[in-house]
Amino acid sequence: MNAQVLISSAALPFAVPTSRWDESVAATLSPAELLLYRSNLLGSDLTVTNFGGGNTSAKLEEIDPLTGEKTEVLWVKGSGGDIGSMKLDGFATLYQAKLLGLEAHYAGPDDDDKMVGFLPHCTFNLNGRAASIDTPLHSLLPFAHVDHVHPDAIIALAASSGGEAATQEIWGGTIGWLPWKRPGYTLGVMLRDYVKANPHVQGVMLAGHGIICWADSAKACYEHTVELIADAANYLNAKLGGKPAFGGQAVAPNADRAAIAADLMPRLRGFMTGARTKLGHFSDDAEALEFVGSVDFERLASLGTSCPDHFLRTKVAPLTLDPARLQDDAYLAQKIADYRDLYAAYYERCKRANSPAMRDSNPVVVLVPGVGRITFATDKTTARLAGEFYGNAINVMRGAEAIGDYIALDEQEAFDIEYWLLEEAKLQRMPAPKPLVGKIALVTGGAGGIGAASAARLLREGACVVLADRAADAVEEVRAGFAKQFGKDVVRAAVCDVTDEAQVQAAFDVAAREFGGLDILVANAGIASSAPIEDTTVELWSRNYDVLAQGYFLTARSAWPLMKRMKDQGGSSVVFIGSKNGVAAATNASAYASAKAAANHLARCLALEGAPFGIRVNTVNPDAVIKGSKIWDGDWRKERAGAHGIDSGKELEEHYRQRSMLKRDVLPEDIAEAVYFLGSDMSAKSTGNMINVDAGNAQAFTR
Ligand SMILES: NC(=O)c1ccc[n+]([C@@H]2O[C@H](COP(=O)([O-])OP(=O)(O)OC[C@H]3O[C@@H](n4cnc5c(N)ncnc54)[C@H](O)[C@@H]3O)[C@@H](O)[C@H]2O)c1
Ligand SMILES: [Zn+2]
Repeated sequence: MNAQVLISSAALPFAVPTSRWDESVAATLSPAELLLYRSNLLGSDLTVTNFGGGNTSAKLEEIDPLTGEKTEVLWVKGSGGDIGSMKLDGFATLYQAKLLGLEAHYAGPDDDDKMVGFLPHCTFNLNGRAASIDTPLHSLLPFAHVDHVHPDAIIALAASSGGEAATQEIWGGTIGWLPWKRPGYTLGVMLRDYVKANPHVQGVMLAGHGIICWADSAKACYEHTVELIADAANYLNAKLGGKPAFGGQAVAPNADRAAIAADLMPRLRGFMTGARTKLGHFSDDAEALEFVGSVDFERLASLGTSCPDHFLRTKVAPLTLDPARLQDDAYLAQKIADYRDLYAAYYERCKRANSPAMRDSNPVVVLVPGVGRITFATDKTTARLAGEFYGNAINVMRGAEAIGDYIALDEQEAFDIEYWLLEEAKLQRMPAPKPLVGKIALVTGGAGGIGAASAARLLREGACVVLADRAADAVEEVRAGFAKQFGKDVVRAAVCDVTDEAQVQAAFDVAAREFGGLDILVANAGIASSAPIEDTTVELWSRNYDVLAQGYFLTARSAWPLMKRMKDQGGSSVVFIGSKNGVAAATNASAYASAKAAANHLARCLALEGAPFGIRVNTVNPDAVIKGSKIWDGDWRKERAGAHGIDSGKELEEHYRQRSMLKRDVLPEDIAEAVYFLGSDMSAKSTGNMINVDAGNAQAFTR
C-alpha cells in the first residue's frame, strides 16, 4: 500500500523510459536469445508496457528438421504469458512461407476467426506453444524485427480525439495511423497494405490500442520502441505542463482511507453474488487518488476503458461510490445490484446469435473519492492485476484528455472482444479452480508448528492466508517462505498478541484490507504449562486463560462481523485447535487443561450462536505433536517427562507413541488435514463437533 498523500496539484507525469540495452550481454547471445533479451527488457520495464502487454517477433533463419535446408522461421511471442518474464519456450515458431501462403484462405473480415485455425498448421519444429491472434501483425510485415506494445503514453495518444494530430506533430509523418480495428488477420492485412502505400513509415499507431514498429536488428528495434515511447511521454508531459489533471481536485485524500477500505471491502464482498466468493485488492497509490478525487472523475469513469487489454481485465466500466454513504448497507447493496442490471442490459444489447452465456456481472473495479481503488476477482492475483490495469487506464485518460477528448472503446466492439468465441474456448479449457480459491483464512499462532502446517494446507488448496503471531521475526520468516512457495499475493503476516484486544482487531483488519474479508478462522495460538496445583501461581493460571480462553474468545469475536457477511455465500468456518487435555483430565497441568476445556466449550456455544449466520464452529484436538512444535522445545518437554518419570529425549517421543492406541507419531501435518476438512465445504454440514487427531486415546473419546 502506498501511503503517499497528494500535496501537489500538478498532474502526475508519464514515465520516460531510456534504453537498458547492455552490449556486453547481447554480444554473447544467439539470434533467438537476442529476441528474448529484447522482449524481457521491454516487458520488465513497466514504464514501457503493462503486465503481459504486447508481443515481439524476429524472422530468423533455421535448419528445417525434415529437409536439412535453411528456412525462414517467424519467432513470435505465443499465446499467454508475459514478455517481461517469458523464456524461450514462450515463443511460437512458424514457417514464414506457410504463414504468407495463408492469404489464399482469406476472403475478408468475416474470416478472422477461421484464420486463427490455420496457424497451428504453420508450426515449425513441433513447437507446442500456441501462436497468438497477433501473429498476422508480425508475419505480414516484411521486416526482420517487429515490436508491438501498449504503454500508457502511447495508448493515451491512441485513445484521444487529438491523437492523430499529435502523432503527426511528434513524428512528422514517420509514424503512421490506422483507425481502430480489433486484433486479427484483417488488422494484419490493413497494416501490411498501409505500410506498402506509405513506405517511409517506421511504425504505425493503432487507434484505441497501441503501436507497432520495426527495425533491421534486435538492438535497433528495441531502441526504436523505447524512443517512440519516450517521445510520446515527453510530448504529453509538456502538454500536461504542471496543470492539475482531470479538471483539478474535488475531494482530498482521506487520512483514514486504509481503515475505511478495511471496513468497506467485506461489505462489498458480502453483496457480490455468484458461485464463488471474491478476493479484493485495495490501492491508494497516487494515480488512483488523483483520479478518484478529481472534478472529471464521474464523467470519465462512466466512459469506460479503451485498450482491449485494459477492459478485458476491468470490465467495461467501474462502479463509483459516494464516500458519504459507505456506512449505508442498503445503498451499497443497491449500487452493486444496479451494476449487475446495467451489465445484463449491456449483454442483452450487444449479444449475437452465437454468443456464449452471460458471465459474472459483478463489478471488478470500485472507485471511491478520497479513498482509492478496490478491485475484486475470483483470485488475489487477478484482483491485483485488474487494479493495476485500471491504473494504466487512468494514465491513458490523463494523457488523452491533455491533448483532446478521451475516447473509450465502442460498446459493441468491447462486447465482441469480451465474448469472442475463441476467448470462450480458452476459458472452457482452463482447469477447474482448487477448492479454496476465493477463500480467506486467518491463522493465529501461524508461525508455530501446527499453525504453519495448517496455513500451508489451506494455501495449497488455493486459499489466501493471514498469519497472525506475536513472534514478529518468526511470522515474517514463515510468510516469506510461503510467498516463495505459493506466490507473494496470497499470504500476509500480522504481528499480533491474541491477548491484546486492539492487536487482534488489527490483524482482522489486515484480512479485510488485504483480501476483502474472512471465511476461515483457525484459532491456534497457544502455549503449554505444567505445574501441580500448589505450585500454580495466579500468574501462570492467568497466562493460560489469557491465551487459550480469552485469546480464542477475542479472535472469534473479531471474526464474527466479517463472517456474518458471508452467510449467503456458502457461510464460513471457525476451527479451534483444542487439545486432548481439554477433554481428558491431565495431572499437573490444571491451568492448561482447564483453559483448553473452556475453549472447547466456547466453540460449542459459538456453534449455536453462529448457525443462523452460516458460521460453523468446530474443534480439532491434537495430542503429543512433538516434531515441529515449539511448545515441545521448551520447559513443557522437561515437565511432561518429569510427570511421566522418563527422560526428555528420545524416550519421551517413544513414550507418547506407545501410549497411543495406534502406536504412531502425530505430526503437525496430521492436524492440518483436519483443519482443512473443517475449514472447507467438505464439512459443510458439520458444526459443534470435535475431531481428535491423537493416534487414538480412549480417555479422549467424546460422548
Ligand atoms: N503440540 C502439541 O502436542 C499440542 C497438543 C495439543 C494441543 N496443542 C495446541 O496446538 C496449538 C499450536 O501449538 P504448536 O504445537 O504448534 O506450538 P508452537 O509453539 O509451535 O506454536 C504456537 C504458536 O503460537 C504463538 N503464540 C503463543 N502465544 C501467543 C499469543 N499470545 N499471541 C499470538 N501468538 C502466540 C507462538 O509464537 C507460536 O508461533 C496450541 O494451541 C496448542 O495448545 C498442541
Ligand atoms: Zn495489442
